[in-house]
Amino acid sequence: MNLPLNIDYSGKVVVITGAGGVLCGTMVRAFAQAGAKVAALDLNEEAVKKLADECKAEGYICEGYKANVLEDEALKAVHEQILNDLGPCDILINGAGGNNPRATTDNEYHHEAAEGQKTFFDLDTSGVDFVFKLNFQGTLIPTQIFAKDMAERKAGCILNISSMNAYIPLTKIPAYSGAKAAISNFTQWLATHFAGTGIRCNAIAPGFLISNQNRTLLFQEDGTPTPRAHKILSGTPMGRFVDGEELLGGVFFLCDEKAASAITGVVLPIDAGFAAYSGV
Ligand SMILES: NC(=O)c1ccc[n+]([C@@H]2O[C@H](COP(=O)([O-])OP(=O)(O)OC[C@H]3O[C@@H](n4cnc5c(N)ncnc54)[C@H](O)[C@@H]3O)[C@@H](O)[C@H]2O)c1
Repeated sequence: MNLPLNIDYSGKVVVITGAGGVLCGTMVRAFAQAGAKVAALDLNEEAVKKLADECKAEGYICEGYKANVLEDEALKAVHEQILNDLGPCDILINGAGGNNPRATTDNEYHHEAAEGQKTFFDLDTSGVDFVFKLNFQGTLIPTQIFAKDMAERKAGCILNISSMNAYIPLTKIPAYSGAKAAISNFTQWLATHFAGTGIRCNAIAPGFLISNQNRTLLFQEDGTPTPRAHKILSGTPMGRFVDGEELLGGVFFLCDEKAASAITGVVLPIDAGFAAYSGV
């Protein structure tokens, strides 16, 4: 029998946005190691050039490109460059995204806000616009540009990055929660729209990871969890955080044209059970 899971992406061109970041940087390395020709795109040119150099030094195929996922014309130019360097896109991973402090309240509950703290009523609508634009249009625009290669060749795969807050919003971050809910919804829309073209579209919803940005929010200096970390862990049936590399199994599976040939429009939680648990 020809087994469905054989992680071999030899010859596939994989375009990953947000590749200068933690999670997508790991995906770049993983796809390169699995034989793909990887285009690593990020606003942060230095980060992706360094990443590409490191991959090349290990004998893999990877190119880094400065790219803003919100700049249509500049992204088209990067697309042309990638066509010349690596060929047409087989797999697009829309990884660029994130929150912004201007769209974040200081407190979980309005009645707890002290004098001078940022409440819902103080949220800066330009911050809200920024977050919606980065996450939603930052997924839509690269898809318009790179999925064209796929539609022409009647094959391909799009993978979006949703979040736990798409299921039930997390406190303090209304814009990021709404924008990621939009990503889950858009994943289903794209899956339906492209169903007759050979293009599949899915998403992963990563759970809680420890990153350099949130480490001090999650752990005290002596290494014990903070109250916020306690809350997260008590809401996670497996009682632990998710490691960035634990996303890779789901990513490889959903992008595999054989293993996931009939899977389109799903959002896969990779969350140690967080989204499944009501807290009771
Ligand atoms: N880290 C988590 O816990 C977590 C959980 C769920 C979902 N996510 C999502 O996963 C994705 C990656 O997250 P991460 O933690 O690796 O983030 P990160 O901040 O480490 O990386 C994000 C990258 O996107 C780049 N970027 C920002 N704006 C851009 C733009 N306009 N054009 C191109 N690149 C741009 C940044 O330069 C950065 O390198 C994001 O969509 C995030 O919302 C993260």
